[in-house]
Amino acid sequence: MIGVLIGTNRVGSKSRLVAAQLVRLYSKLDQKINVIDLGALPKEAWAGTVFKKLPLSILPMVRRTVDCKGLVIVYPEYNGSIPGSLKHYIDILPHPESLARKPVCLVGVARGSTGALRASTHLEAILFYRRAFIYPFPLYLAKIDELLEGKCAIEQENIQKKMLEQAMGFLEFLKRSSP
Ligand SMILES: Cc1cc2nc3c(=O)[nH]c(=O)nc-3n(C[C@H](O)[C@H](O)[C@H](O)COP(=O)(O)O)c2cc1C
Repeated sequence: MIGVLIGTNRVGSKSRLVAAQLVRLYSKLDQKINVIDLGALPKEAWAGTVFKKLPLSILPMVRRTVDCKGLVIVYPEYNGSIPGSLKHYIDILPHPESLARKPVCLVGVARGSTGALRASTHLEAILFYRRAFIYPFPLYLAKIDELLEGKCAIEQENIQKKMLEQAMGFLEFLKRSSP
């Protein structure tokens, strides 16, 4: 099972559209997918007590994250970094079982022309700290509004080709990283 983590809770997020497109792509590659959508984080997740004891309502999402053999994280760039909701989710995940030695594939989304490059360096540092196995070919989707052209999915063939290449490469990486 591969987890696709939507790394923002923003209503109307374009990253969520990209994630949905990737879910369809991985499904076509015969992969079973679990979607982990930070938009579905219950409000208890934000209580200060969450670090002491995870509320029951969060456990299914956390369980899906722990159980997946590989994780595709689709994240936007907010203020030159990752969204607070993504950092918070990583902060409340149990360690080391959530991320250590887990193959992780990065897909950054941004309105700007650097394509979440700054967010990516921050996320990579956090994942490296958590001993994740980072697939070394991230995909940066810059100028996302132009790529989506007001639609629900990216139709440009060159971008679809990059998505497919990354997905196939990540599946190979997963195979090699598995014990
Ligand atoms: C709080 C906030 C901060 C943002 N900061 C940046 C930024 O630093 N660089 C950038 O290229 N886009 C920035 N954006 C625009 C996002 O890249 C844009 O919303 C894009 O669609 C991806 O985010 P989304 O998944 O929330 O839609 C920001 C958006 C929000 C909501």
